[in-house]
Amino acid sequence: MKTITVKASKTYDILIDGISSDGVAHECVSLLDKAGSVIRKTSGGYTAAIVTDDILASLYEKRLKDSLEKNGYRVVSFVFPHGESSKNTDTFLSLISFLAQEKLSRSDIVIALGGGVTGDITGFAASSYLRGCRFVQIPTTLLAAVDSSVGGKTAVNIPAGKNLLGSFYQPDVVLCDTSLLSTLPADVFKDGCAEVIKYGIIADYKIADRSLFESLAQTPINTQLEEVIAKCVEIKRDIVMKDEFDNADRKLLNFGHTVGHAIESLSEYGISHGQAVAIGMVIESRAAVRLGLCKEQCLQDILEMLTLYGLPVSTTFKVDEITSICLSDKKRDGKSLTMIFPVEIGKCVLKEIPVDELENVIRLGLEEI
Ligand code: GLY
Repeated sequence: MKTITVKASKTYDILIDGISSDGVAHECVSLLDKAGSVIRKTSGGYTAAIVTDDILASLYEKRLKDSLEKNGYRVVSFVFPHGESSKNTDTFLSLISFLAQEKLSRSDIVIALGGGVTGDITGFAASSYLRGCRFVQIPTTLLAAVDSSVGGKTAVNIPAGKNLLGSFYQPDVVLCDTSLLSTLPADVFKDGCAEVIKYGIIADYKIADRSLFESLAQTPINTQLEEVIAKCVEIKRDIVMKDEFDNADRKLLNFGHTVGHAIESLSEYGISHGQAVAIGMVIESRAAVRLGLCKEQCLQDILEMLTLYGLPVSTTFKVDEITSICLSDKKRDGKSLTMIFPVEIGKCVLKEIPVDELENVIRLGLEEI
């Protein structure tokens, strides 16, 4: 088991583990089955509310419930329909009403069992119900494991845009059971691969003696899952510890996301987050080449890596459509927008792009060299 400690406004551990022997002959348990005893130690409390979607409920809710009950919890479950379209204020308010009906107190625990949508809604509810109750993340997708479950960003979408209503709220503990990722549909796994590739482009951390990026080219992510997740989490942990509230360095994590969010939104979420970020990374990297910030080879390496993992690298959306959505992005700061550009593989920089130059930058990114 790997343990990565985050020291932010709250100190907490991220535990990463798959199946392991529990010392009993012929019996194996994974982190999910040990969740009750871990949560008992980190969070205490009397009632544990599991929040999950309909698909994950059928796969894993019972195991989590059993583990919690064995450790003395009264367990209640809130199950909502899966998908990004549930990440809205209706689901959020239903969840809050549910917690109130079940009379959860501030010292009780809300547990997100799922991907990014579940983690974001649950975290936001945990941060606002009674002005904050205890919160645990159990990510079940690669994307949630390497990104959304770490660092305390919580949110729901509103009609004006993605993630526009939310808070920073750190969990008590994150339990990343890599064996849960084996049931992921291929496309959902690929979404996470886009975020993993992003980490290889923004930071130069090593796996053994190779850079993360090189290692992804040589060894498929699914065959080095624990190492890759741990490396991405370490990168994110180090960034979050420098800039928990997203004023400076944390914006590096948004590489590919400015354009990616616009594409996701233009497609009405028909293009998934990871796919949109992949396209966003290409457009932002091509713009970087044309602005003289990085070499053409860097763009080629990114294109090759995304293609290797079966991710899309282009879009049919037009420059004016993408620009207009980017302008409503929450990363916009008055008259400019912070964009993230690669200067080489393993290093990105933040650049303030004046609002009236944004369309040109996106045009540079869209036009094939
Ligand atoms: N997903 C980007 C961040 O957590 O800052």
